[in-house]
Amino acid sequence: MAEKLPDVVMPACPSRRLLEGQKALVTGANSGIGKAVAIALGEAGADVVVNYVSGEEDANAVVQTIHRGGAKSYAHRADVSQEDPVREMFKKMCHEFGTIDILINNAGLQRDAPFDEMTLDQWNLVMRVNLTGQFLCAREAVREFKRRGVVKEVSCAAGKIICMSSVHEIIPWAGHVNYAASKGGVMLMMKSLAQEVAPHRIRVNSIAPGAIRTPINRPAWETPEAYAALMKLVPYNRIGEVDDIGRAAVWLVSDYADYVNGISLVVDGGMTLYPGFATGG
Ligand code: BGC
Repeated sequence: MAEKLPDVVMPACPSRRLLEGQKALVTGANSGIGKAVAIALGEAGADVVVNYVSGEEDANAVVQTIHRGGAKSYAHRADVSQEDPVREMFKKMCHEFGTIDILINNAGLQRDAPFDEMTLDQWNLVMRVNLTGQFLCAREAVREFKRRGVVKEVSCAAGKIICMSSVHEIIPWAGHVNYAASKGGVMLMMKSLAQEVAPHRIRVNSIAPGAIRTPINRPAWETPEAYAALMKLVPYNRIGEVDDIGRAAVWLVSDYADYVNGISLVVDGGMTLYPGFATGG
């Protein structure tokens, strides 16, 4: 039996900084989507731990940007695929910030290869970072959310997790079998975890970005020819920007989304709308 939880009081004033007083951890926050989400959470009033594994200077620059907005922040180096460093990272965060309210499970990578040339190392690395890393961080977060419970002055929920997934949790992706398999895994990990911890009023959701302009997919947008080819896959006819994901993340972890649980929020300009069928089929 779940404990009796307080009734929900929705935030009254829409102009209030949505995440004031909340403590967030963003993994892989030194660049790309993670960086934009960390800065957006800071702008919304959250204090933010900026996790990185390489790129210390970039991580420190993200911290400085968050400081300029008035929120607390520090950078923490940890490989999310390693159990002890992940536990250390959460321990330090609870020491520095008192607790955690928001986990953004963002760290991820690609190691692309034709299937018959894919090495076991390429397969394992992608699974370790993209899937096991999300498991290890979510487990630590859930432990703290359950220990602390709802603090209604802070949020309606006892904690919020966003798993950064991809349109490739839906769209098969030849030449990227390890990556698509990891994101398919993230989808059912997220939903199963959401189902398990919902009675504790913990919300677990994913964001499934489409083509966002980041270093991970530079070849897909950096030349006019590549960009034009990419646009054939995007009905909205523009590439996504990292702020598109930052804004979605702020909403999804805020109390405005308090009844949203176990979904993949697709942010893709319509990439998952089967654009090939716009004129065919
Ligand atoms: C991948 C990108 C790709 C996008 C759309 C993302 O998950 O990381 O490389 O451009 O999906 O295909």
